[in-house]
Amino acid sequence: MSYDDFSEHVIMLQDSVRTLAYERAIREVVRPGMTVLDFGCGTGVLSLFAARAGAERVYAVDKAAIVHAAEAIARRNGCKQISFIRTEGEGFTLPEKVDVLVSEWMGIFVLRENMMPALLSARDAHLRPGGVMIPRAVGWSCAFIIDEAFYRERAFFDDRPYGIDFSLVRDWAFADVQWRSLTPSQLSIAFPLQSLDIAAAQREPDCIQGATSFPHPVTAYGICGWFDAQLSEGEKLDTSPSAPPTHWKQLLFPFARPVVLAADDKVSVDIRPVRAEGRRMSWRWSVKAARETVWYDDFSYRAHLLTK
Ligand SMILES: C[S@@+](CC[C@H](N)C(=O)[O-])C[C@H]1O[C@@H](n2cnc3c(N)ncnc32)[C@H](O)[C@@H]1O
Repeated sequence: MSYDDFSEHVIMLQDSVRTLAYERAIREVVRPGMTVLDFGCGTGVLSLFAARAGAERVYAVDKAAIVHAAEAIARRNGCKQISFIRTEGEGFTLPEKVDVLVSEWMGIFVLRENMMPALLSARDAHLRPGGVMIPRAVGWSCAFIIDEAFYRERAFFDDRPYGIDFSLVRDWAFADVQWRSLTPSQLSIAFPLQSLDIAAAQREPDCIQGATSFPHPVTAYGICGWFDAQLSEGEKLDTSPSAPPTHWKQLLFPFARPVVLAADDKVSVDIRPVRAEGRRMSWRWSVKAARETVWYDDFSYRAHLLTK
């Protein structure tokens, strides 16, 4: 994904659940006379919301060329209090500390785009002590996928297709996360994973973990993960399957074999982003039930193919 592709910005702007939630949060937080940093401004939509809420000065910063279009859009809308800055490298300078730092930085399952480290540096460099972050917190949640069709779609090698024994590569069909929306009827009861205070966070989490138990047996075919963002005191953006759909959808982590959970058994999940230089971002995920932990990932089979 590249933010130099305008289509990415169209997708985000067409996501009115996302965009209107930000507009409401900005209206709640930004008061006339305040200064605002819009970090990763894209088309400048959040800067325009801040200006409309009465901000005296807005600094709109982006590393992509879209910032030039954002500047033209602001001028066309008669908005003069926004300064646009294209940041090519790590840091950028501002003439003052800001009262509010607003940013729509969350990737798929929050971590996919790896924007959090840059956001935290921008916070430390440019937000005044006691200033407000929008969003102020993010929280992850998940449910187990209980729809057997999700498993069957990948288990087709079990039926010896075309009369060929594909059993050696059977599990590779499960070794890919899927970015897709599910419905609550395909899922167990949801449970929270961890959350992160964006005003205080020092670094991106290495893993997202949580545990639960169910009052009845559950057969799990994978994990469906999502997040919510507390944009302001009164505004929460929820990307769960039971909330209005957003462009984030959910992220699905399949199990190569069904995991059968007994009633009241403790079950834990652990989901980890794996970043390596020169390689696309990968995931590892595990489920621990009845003292057995099973790990999966979406990269070892590629490594296996490349070493042959
Ligand atoms: C998810 S988009 C949000 C765009 C816009 N704020 C909106 O709400 O429609 C994230 C933006 O952050 C920018 N970005 C990503 N990493 C950045 C960084 N390290 N420094 C500056 N901008 C960055 C991208 O180019 C992209 O335009």
